[in-house]
Order: sequence, then C-alpha cells, then structure tokens
Amino acid sequence: MAETTPLVEARALELELPDMNAPRGFGPRPRVRILHPVSLTLRRGEILGIVGESGSGKTSLGRTLLRLHEPTGGAVLFDGNDITHRSQADLRILRPRMQMIFQDPQSSLNPRRRVAASLSAALDLGAPGLRGPARRAALEEAARAVGLDPALIDRFPHELSGGQRQRVGIARAIVTRPDFVLADEVVSGLDVSTQAQVLALLKRLAAEMGLALAFISHDLSVIRALCDRVCVMRAGRIVEQGPCAALFEAPQTDYTRILLDAIPLPVPDPGWLERGAPAR
Ligand SMILES: Nc1ncnc2c1ncn2[C@@H]1O[C@H](COP(=O)(O)OP(=O)(O)O)[C@@H](O)[C@H]1O
Ligand SMILES: [Mg+2]
Repeated sequence: MAETTPLVEARALELELPDMNAPRGFGPRPRVRILHPVSLTLRRGEILGIVGESGSGKTSLGRTLLRLHEPTGGAVLFDGNDITHRSQADLRILRPRMQMIFQDPQSSLNPRRRVAASLSAALDLGAPGLRGPARRAALEEAARAVGLDPALIDRFPHELSGGQRQRVGIARAIVTRPDFVLADEVVSGLDVSTQAQVLALLKRLAAEMGLALAFISHDLSVIRALCDRVCVMRAGRIVEQGPCAALFEAPQTDYTRILLDAIPLPVPDPGWLERGAPAR
C-alpha cells in the first residue's frame, strides 16, 4: 500500500528573524518577515525541488524544515511529530535522521582534517558507540555509496577534485542513514558534466535509501533533470507547486514563466542525466 503520511510537512509556516540590515541601536533588533505562510509535504523516496530567484527564501525555508530556525507561525512536522517548538536538545535525537548537504564543501570541510575524520565526526551524531573496524567500515561504506574510492578518505580535502569533495559532502550527510536530506545549491559551483554526475548520484541515493530529498536550486534546468515535484518561491511565498513535468509544460504563473524563459538554452538531450550516471 502506498505510504500516505508525509515524512516532512510544513503547515502555514511563517518565519521572522531579527533584521540584520537594521541599524544597531538600543533594545532588540526589529524583526523582518522572511517566510509568509508556506505549506508543503515531502514523502520518502521523493525529490522536491525548491526554486526561485536569489533572496526568495529558499534557504530560510530549508533551514526551517530542519528546525535550524524556529518558526514564528504555523508548524513543522517530521515523521508525524510536531517539532515546531522543540528545543535543540530535544532535536538532537532526530538530527541523525535529518541532514544537510552544503553548497560549498570546500568551506564546510575542515581543511586540516582528513576526510575520514570529518565523516567520523558526522557519524558521531548517530552512532557514537561505533568503534574500531566497525566504524572504519561504516565510513568506507558511505564513501562507496557516493562512488568514492574508500582509499580517498585518508586524504585531505585539498587533495581531492571539486566533484570528489562534493561527494564527500554527500557522504557526510548520508553516513548516519538519514530519512530527510536537504541539498542547498549543491551543484552550483560545478562544471556541467560534474553536475550531471552529482545529480545522478543524488537521484540514485534518494531511490535506494528511500530518502526524502529537498533540493534547492535557482537553476530550473537542474530542477527539471532531478525532481519529482517543484515548489516555486517568490518573496517568501510558494507561488506555484506541482509535479515537475506539469510545471514545465504548463506553468500557472507569470513568475514561473519568466523563470523558465531565463533558462539559457533548452536541454538539447533530455536523457543527459541518466547517461551521466557514474559507474558504481
Ligand atoms: N537575519 C536576516 N535579516 C534580514 N534579512 C534576512 C535575514 N535572513 C535572511 N534575510 C533575507 O531573507 C530573504 C530570503 O533569504 P534566503 O532564504 O537566503 O533566500 P534564497 O536562499 O532564496 O536566496 C532575503 O531577502 C534575505 O536578504
Ligand atoms: Mg540560498
């Protein structure tokens, strides 16, 4: 039977933050509205694209779904639990199940640590008791799962290529075997063929691990290649959401149409992602 409960759900989510642009004065900073009521659902094995121009609220929404921000209205549910106002201490128990892949593995990986040490620190979140050969085996398994030669985890980040570093970033996110992964602009800095390989990898992992994957990008051609459903954001709101194919075929808002028109060239070969798949 098809699973009906979403793994992640936002119900009329609102977010205000202290306004970093306001001049510093006495008293609390004025607050600025970042998200207007936003609602979405994400199921296991599903890839949800979140697209919109820079400043539209994609990162803020993603961070709120992970409860790195506390909502000021509405609710966030994770696997049926209302986590809207859970303390960070309470959330620690869920952290291994909700992970993030960073945009820039270059700056998010400690340059003075071998890759294995960074992966190991991530694993501590979910399996602090795992020691010795079993721990090493878990790190190597995460490397293999992302198509990295396990021998590479004994290197330092600067000894790897950009594509390899992004794979390390993905390995770090999946080493705790999460249910929900947020990927925020993770292919933006990569050349097109490396992009295709990383996207194919994410697609395979989402299917194999049954991940609920929220994939943020300002690039609609990337969204089209990867996602099952898409939310289009503008000024802190979702202005349109639906199945990927339908949205590209018949956008319902002028804004989405403008974003679509901004794609530099139609993808000449719609099968590029499948063929770009890395050998396992
Ligand atoms: N602490 C803050 N103070 C003031 N403005 C903020 C703060 N955090 C985010 N913003 C603003 O919120 C909007 C959404 O930001 P963000 O979620 O990073 O958008 P995106 O990821 O789509 O580029 C932007 O206009 C940004 O400048
Ligand atoms: Mg962003």
